[in-house]
Amino acid sequence: MEITDDIFYVGVDDHSIDLFEEQYPTPNGMAYNSYVIMDEKIAVLDTVDTHFGTEWLGNLEKVLGKKTPDYLIIHHMEPDHSANIVAFMKRYPATILVSSMPAFTMMKQFFDTEFTSSKIIVKDQDMLSLGTHTLTFFSAPMVHWPEVIVSYDNLGKVLFSADSFGKFGTLSTDEDWTCEARRYYFGIVGKYGIQVQKLLQKIENLDIRMICSLHGPILKNNIEYYMNLYRIWSSYAVESEGVVIAYASVYGNTQNAAVLLADRLYEKGCPKVVLSNLTRDDMTECIEDAFRYGTLVLASTTYNGGIFPAMREFLNHLCERNFQNRRIAFIENGSWAPSAAKAMKSMLDSCANLTFLENTVQIRSAINADSRTQLEALAAEICH
Ligand code: FEO
Repeated sequence: MEITDDIFYVGVDDHSIDLFEEQYPTPNGMAYNSYVIMDEKIAVLDTVDTHFGTEWLGNLEKVLGKKTPDYLIIHHMEPDHSANIVAFMKRYPATILVSSMPAFTMMKQFFDTEFTSSKIIVKDQDMLSLGTHTLTFFSAPMVHWPEVIVSYDNLGKVLFSADSFGKFGTLSTDEDWTCEARRYYFGIVGKYGIQVQKLLQKIENLDIRMICSLHGPILKNNIEYYMNLYRIWSSYAVESEGVVIAYASVYGNTQNAAVLLADRLYEKGCPKVVLSNLTRDDMTECIEDAFRYGTLVLASTTYNGGIFPAMREFLNHLCERNFQNRRIAFIENGSWAPSAAKAMKSMLDSCANLTFLENTVQIRSAINADSRTQLEALAAEICH
């Protein structure tokens, strides 16, 4: 695939993967992107997942013809991108590897070699001339691993952004970028908002016309749209007005309360209510929604004197991703000793800037007139 006159896509689509990183469902597969810049010097940018070495080397050969690459630039050492470095170097042994110092340390760990005789170590803002193209490298530690670099091509005005601006899904899938990019962002780098902000500051003044990530489509139009979403996501700001009601229910009574609250919120004019069934829905979608909207209602049955396991898992995911800046309310259910609300609140102790609403709803086994009144009061407080 031709991206510009002399920049080519040589990545692959993985249609068979069901769980990316063994935890994120990928109903539309995954793309492992790789690029080639054909200049006076030829640079290959990243390799692909271990299962696609033959296909990738074939794609590469079609672009290279009889030429051989001068550089292999490694932006990120996670194996979905680095697994074919050794196979590549066997085929093109004269290539010089270009990457960060910590990346070469990881190469030693993964492959038992640092390619000592054929490497260039780059630091923040180092440049590499290919002829008409010059690449400037920016270190981007923890976006998503510590060794990550991104690069900017001054001629094509292309940002090669490593994992950032990526998404789940193959390139042959025709789907909205934002939803799967958001789920990917909060799953993969949600914890590292500060580090993503630092990267955004470094690239803020570049004239970026195209973003070539390691996953997902090449972004060409309205670059500011994507940059702005990354500013919102990395600062943990509210992206959309609305309420998420995340519930864990055993016999349906806590679920009934969640649905009743959603109805009351819509009646009061709430623009969007998301009901997240934590025991049945894709947990990574539930996490994404919690970071998207401004108010989160947590509804759990009391279990073993604490919280139902799916709710505990959900809260663990939020806390370890630095969940913050949100309004929180609780619904607890308990047939003899309801205590889920207190346990949920204590799990959120480490989160910054949470505003806890005054109304906590308590259900004793099933909804009754009293709990309906409490739900009404909570709906009024949320919509106030
Ligand atoms: Fe796509 Fe962090 O690897």
